[in-house]
Amino acid sequence: MDSFLVSPNGPLKGDVCISGSKNAVLPVMAAAMLANGISKISNVPNLKDTSTMSDVLRVIGCRIKEDKDCLSIDSSDINHLEAPYELVKTMRASFYVLGPLVAKYGKCRVSLPGGCAWGPRPVDLHLKGLEALGAKINVTHGYVEALIDGKLKGNTFSFPISSVGATANILMAATLAEGTSVLQNSSIEPEITALAEYLTGMGAKINGIGTRTLIVEGVENLNPGNGPTIADRIEAGTFLAAAAITRGKVKATNMVPAHQGALLEVFERIGCKITQGDNWVELDAEGCELLPAHIVTMPYPGFPTDMQAQLMALLATVKGTSSVRDTIYNDRFKHVSELNRLGADISLKEDTALINGGGELTGAPVMASDLRASAALVLAGLVAKEQTEISRIYHLDRGYENFESKLSALGAKLERVNG
Ligand code: EPZ
Repeated sequence: MDSFLVSPNGPLKGDVCISGSKNAVLPVMAAAMLANGISKISNVPNLKDTSTMSDVLRVIGCRIKEDKDCLSIDSSDINHLEAPYELVKTMRASFYVLGPLVAKYGKCRVSLPGGCAWGPRPVDLHLKGLEALGAKINVTHGYVEALIDGKLKGNTFSFPISSVGATANILMAATLAEGTSVLQNSSIEPEITALAEYLTGMGAKINGIGTRTLIVEGVENLNPGNGPTIADRIEAGTFLAAAAITRGKVKATNMVPAHQGALLEVFERIGCKITQGDNWVELDAEGCELLPAHIVTMPYPGFPTDMQAQLMALLATVKGTSSVRDTIYNDRFKHVSELNRLGADISLKEDTALINGGGELTGAPVMASDLRASAALVLAGLVAKEQTEISRIYHLDRGYENFESKLSALGAKLERVNG
């Protein structure tokens, strides 16, 4: 298993081009199965998770071609309505195949995704939503078996809590249901808006895109899709946090500033200077005395849970008492013990991390536990004295394209060691 060796090398400086979004492309890849024919997706990031999703689609019977950052997905000859545990257990987003398969073929069998590094990740809302559209759901032997006689029926369904994945699954299923579905309290993350736009391009009839009430008029068939992947707002945020923790100046380009939600306001509240253009955001922390902050994660457009680990690493270097409360995943704190090994002073109280920031960080061997925790450890390694060795960085490879080359181009000193 590969590791990173990271050493401090001063403030990061320069421009970084942001890749396509992992969390946008994965549901769109599943949506391709709603049509018969060859769907195309561009600006696809080259990630472990995108290749895992391709493997899942191939097992189901799709033929997939990659041409640089473009994917072609031919769903004409799907012949195996099952997503196996061996693949689904490695990537929860494989569960996105459930909605499209049951909507189009009337039945399918998808492994339950199981937990993840920071605890249980239920799928009850996905199942309740499909039942509301008339699917018969049976959970047995670790698999979800979904069945309908005839077609799914449009209905009104209100998500009790905001769920990105459940919104994606039920939205995709509703596009082929008979009649109209009203999906209330839908997630409005940019990835969901992008999915709805891609589905519209396939011929789906969706009103309310970008709002919490999606009105879907089911259609008989959908045509193959063709569209780009939006930029990865979490990758952009991660590089801006890297600029902040090294007190540098970095411009993230080829991205959508408006998708950053509350993140830019938090960087400014901490004392970073933020400027932005149509498709770029620059964070300047050179010579800044940053301020502690109290952060609470919320569904979009609130502060994203996928940035809380990175901000925790930053706040560990800021004098004073800060806190990070995660209201989405109240146990997403595997990175705390590893950051403390680097000299941070972070304690946990239920769903909140209390950070006594400003102490000196010193390099040490640490272990990555999940995608965003790994990024947080790299950020801390950029300023921890001497060298930090981060093991199990396969977690990073799941969601950050060319991470080490992009960071090195900004002046970071890090190398990958093949383990
Ligand atoms: C998506 O996960 C993202 N993954 C996650 O990013 C992200 O952290 C999360 O949304 C929240 O923004 C992808 O898009 C592939 P949810 P998802 O359903 O859809 C609870 C990363 O680092 N819930 O919005 O699985 C759930 O436990 C990853 O890129 C239920 O209770 O998240 C959580 O508390 C990590 N029942 C809350 O809802 C359900 O059926 C939000 O989860 C579904 C979810």
